[in-house]
Amino acid sequence: MAVTTRGSNIRASDHISEDRLWQRHMAMAKLGATPRGGVNRQALSAEDAQARKLLGSWAASRGYDVFTDPIGNLYVKRPGTDASAKPVLSGSHLDSQPTGGKFDGTYGVLAAFEALEALDDAGIKTKRPIMAVAWTNEEGNRFQPGCMGSGAFAGVYPLEQLLSGKDPQGTSVRDAFAELLKTAPARLEPRLGFPIDSYIEAHIEQGPILENTKNEIGIVTLIQGMRRFYIDVFGEEAHSGTTPLKLRKDALKSACSMVTALEPLMADPTDTVRYTVGRFEIYPGSPSTVPSKVHFLIDLRHPDIATLERLGDGIASICEAEAAKRGCTVKVTEYTTVAPMPMGAEAVALVRDSAKALGMKHIDIISGAGHDAMHVAKVAPAGMIFVPCWKGISHNETEDATAKDLANGARVLADALVSLANR
Ligand code: GLV
Ligand code: MN
Ligand code: MN
Repeated sequence: MAVTTRGSNIRASDHISEDRLWQRHMAMAKLGATPRGGVNRQALSAEDAQARKLLGSWAASRGYDVFTDPIGNLYVKRPGTDASAKPVLSGSHLDSQPTGGKFDGTYGVLAAFEALEALDDAGIKTKRPIMAVAWTNEEGNRFQPGCMGSGAFAGVYPLEQLLSGKDPQGTSVRDAFAELLKTAPARLEPRLGFPIDSYIEAHIEQGPILENTKNEIGIVTLIQGMRRFYIDVFGEEAHSGTTPLKLRKDALKSACSMVTALEPLMADPTDTVRYTVGRFEIYPGSPSTVPSKVHFLIDLRHPDIATLERLGDGIASICEAEAAKRGCTVKVTEYTTVAPMPMGAEAVALVRDSAKALGMKHIDIISGAGHDAMHVAKVAPAGMIFVPCWKGISHNETEDATAKDLANGARVLADALVSLANR
């Protein structure tokens, strides 16, 4: 029994309740539920507000302190015995993709909260406070950039710039957060980015490796890097019935040729490069007008910094060459740049010790998805725990995971948090 409180052999993991954790997921899944069984709970929306309110009510019934910071990150604090000790943080996000699943992000928040409750139920005191956190806007769909709350916490983005950002309907982050507070009021702590001891995030894997290799726990060693670009292609409006093809400056056809022309650059026999165009907007969007403008987004990921730099740096010239072929112009703007981020050696080792002590089958794993941990790792030792998800499917309403796997991850998390909070 490697993970215990000082002078005792009570394990927090023994008090993780599989049923309570599952019921909490099902309660959260009702907030923003979609007809196909997923959730649409976008950042700072009415549904996000309801989810925060629910978490707040559970925290209140345990007597935990709940507060928010200026970008809307929501914290639930279980005190430690040393009032001056820096807290250990654990969490993830409650916002979802527009066609998201029940577990992406929500699991990390609920596993952290379950760990706090398990500690209470076990009567375990820790030297450091342990805090569960729900970071604002991890998904980066309604508002950009993604991992907004954790990025602000770690000082990656200036707060004012984030608060001024707008969704496609013109609502700012500032206004959406003010509106959310009406439904889910929380004490506002004006400071952003307070000192923390360490951070552990639990998450479903969102890929097939754990399921295929029959492992229960993935110990994340690295989160691959990510670069995201806005591509704005400008052509000229013209009548679609009268304008000869060779006189047109068709922004849509130009944009389509860019997407295709980038394929050879991104081609990779090892299938490690991740190149995605996930949003494509055409203006003015009329059947009888040649498109004058296209706005699309490129998401590029790779675990190796040099490759990520080479591929991302190659995008603009290829787009410019394609634009010139049709008399169009193009503006390429990089709006997210996150280098591959190794997890902290100590956090990784403690998670591994915790999994080993619990006799769980585990492997080291690289995260293909981005996570709040990639920003928090800049200010404190950070680790991540992955649990299997059905067929590796995520960012999809059919996303699924078993109550047993979720509870196993929470057990590893709870014991690792106790180790961090008592060292
Ligand atoms: C997070 O959801 C990501 O896009 O990796
Ligand atoms: Mn997530
Ligand atoms: Mn996600």
